[in-house]
Amino acid sequence: MANIILLGPPGAGKGTQAKRLESERRMVQLSTGDMLREAKSSGSEMGHKVAAVMARGELVTDEIVIGLIRERLTEGAEGGFIFDGFPRTLAQADALADLMDEVGQRLDAVIEMQVDDAALVVRITGRFTCGNCGAVYHDETKPTLTPGVCDVCGSGQMQRRADDNADALRTRLMEYYKKTSPLIGYYYAKGCLTSVDGLAEMDVVAASIASALDSAN
Ligand code: AP5
Ligand code: MG
Repeated sequence: MANIILLGPPGAGKGTQAKRLESERRMVQLSTGDMLREAKSSGSEMGHKVAAVMARGELVTDEIVIGLIRERLTEGAEGGFIFDGFPRTLAQADALADLMDEVGQRLDAVIEMQVDDAALVVRITGRFTCGNCGAVYHDETKPTLTPGVCDVCGSGQMQRRADDNADALRTRLMEYYKKTSPLIGYYYAKGCLTSVDGLAEMDVVAASIASALDSAN
């Protein structure tokens, strides 16, 4: 059992690898992006409040995302948690440390997925996901076996995200470099950072993460 953070810019492959870890290691993915999109589609007041912020590619408030994580942490996870897209600010990182203490858990590893900006644009503009189970695909690098049908659950509800366009991506990258990339130094100083080459093939990235996880245990 291990609790890990997948840290990386938009399109680094956090969601792709988190889904693999869920099925291979019975870990539980906690993606604040997915939770916020669920809140948006459920029509809740909070979802309504964050929709425009997300579509522009800006970060939502620390208070909202910390609240979402707090709720889920108390539910526990047999194989451990995968924090995907959280924390994204130093305030969120401090809050996570406090929350982990509260539930008697520790953070075992922070995995930084390194990818260059040019590759991110290609990845983001070709991405689509299954609206039913959340499986992640790409027009070129990971198409579905049957066009329009999810390989995992057979659903035909493929979706593209409102923030997967060139303008919003520029803002998302800027937010990442300004507010999230300082976390790389923060976790390095805490002695729990491992960097992996996120540009490698998905299986190779998965193997690098697996070895980081095994050595953290
Ligand atoms: P969020 O949903 O977290 O988006 P993101 O961080 O921008 O990251 P993405 O989901 O776009 O990328 P990913 O790394 O998961 O890549 P994926 O695996 O899909 O956040 C969205 C918004 O919510 C934020 O902008 C903000 O507004 C808000 N938010 C969320 N969390 C917040 C927080 N903590 N605080 C404040 N606001 C928050 O892969 C991308 C594509 O590449 C796919 O098509 C995939 O098939 C392909 N791919 C993946 N790996 C590879 C590979 N190795 N080789 C080739 N292709 C690959
Ligand atoms: Mg994601």
